[in-house]
Amino acid sequence: MSILEMMNKETVIPERYKTMSVEEIEARVKEIKEKFGTRLYIPGHHYQKDEVIQFADDTGDSLKLAQLSANNNLAEYIVFCGVHFMAETADILTNENQKVLLPDMRAGCSMADMANIEQTEKSWVKLQELFGDTMLPLTYVNSTAAIKAFCGKHEGATVTSSNAKKMVKWALTQKERIFFLPDQHLGRNTAFDLGIPLEAMAVWDPDKEQLEYDGALKDIKVILWKGHCSVHEKFTVANIEQMRNDYPGINIIVHPECSHEVVQLADYAGSTNYIIDKLEEADPNSIWAVGTEMNLVKRLTKVHSDKQVLSLNPDMCPCLTMNRIDLPHLLWSLESIESGSPINQVTVEKEIAHDAVLAVNRMLERA
Ligand code: 13P
Ligand code: SF4
Repeated sequence: MSILEMMNKETVIPERYKTMSVEEIEARVKEIKEKFGTRLYIPGHHYQKDEVIQFADDTGDSLKLAQLSANNNLAEYIVFCGVHFMAETADILTNENQKVLLPDMRAGCSMADMANIEQTEKSWVKLQELFGDTMLPLTYVNSTAAIKAFCGKHEGATVTSSNAKKMVKWALTQKERIFFLPDQHLGRNTAFDLGIPLEAMAVWDPDKEQLEYDGALKDIKVILWKGHCSVHEKFTVANIEQMRNDYPGINIIVHPECSHEVVQLADYAGSTNYIIDKLEEADPNSIWAVGTEMNLVKRLTKVHSDKQVLSLNPDMCPCLTMNRIDLPHLLWSLESIESGSPINQVTVEKEIAHDAVLAVNRMLERA
């Protein structure tokens, strides 16, 4: 579902949640959590604010949260503290009597919105005219359920930032080329890591319906959808140069949604879980510049007081859609469950879920 469609389905949070004190809200969240026990499950993505994360039953990156949702048969209600595509994935992987709620329906992902199914299907036809039946579609989980279903139907799979390498490697044993949606950066960084040169990668512009490439058409192995993350795009080569200049010996770690140039200049690149683990094992007194979302960077700075942890871009803003989930929205969601009328339920149409699960399971089997 796109952000526009979500807005149309949106229910507005009642005024009273805005006037309650933090203490009152926290006490009610605790009370409802205790009352529901294992009937209620709150997964929280690492980019969520601390005020929300404190109530998460589990925290994780996209892969871990997908696996946890798939394995949870106990919870009747899953209140997903993350963004819409993550809640959709949870709905796809859970059974029919489990309800997945997103505390604020406006919590979308601008990258996921960069590929819609109509454009994808049209693009596939155009690309088949160029490449015939030689492509396997792969989609980053940061995509709509409809795009996942498209991949499922065409023998493809989903990937996350922590298994992209494994999945791209697998995909290239299935077909000669991959069609990678919607994040060109994750696709390019992963393929390059596997030894595929930049000349063997092309960018598909879905608006112009045009393929951009430098080498020979026949040598193209990876076709990248022209999408990106507007948060990670803000980390630049100039930021890295500045950090290295200001803090000699600094370690630079970034998420692979950053541009190829930034990932190449960084010391390490990986998923949010990878970044967390790397900081965990780092030497005390070491200095780190982290190129990912602000809420996570701030948490790392707080947790690792024995190290110096900075944002790679000091003028960074948080992911605005992730940030829409706050304490009042969490309580609103929980009280709606308590009252017997859950709001903001995320449901993937049966037909779409049927094909999308094929793509997600192909990933989970190999993850
Ligand atoms: P991770 O899978 O690394 O948690 O990334 C999710 C995401 O949306 C990054 O922007
Ligand atoms: Fe989407 Fe980027 Fe926000 Fe991740 S950080 S949820 S990719 S907009």
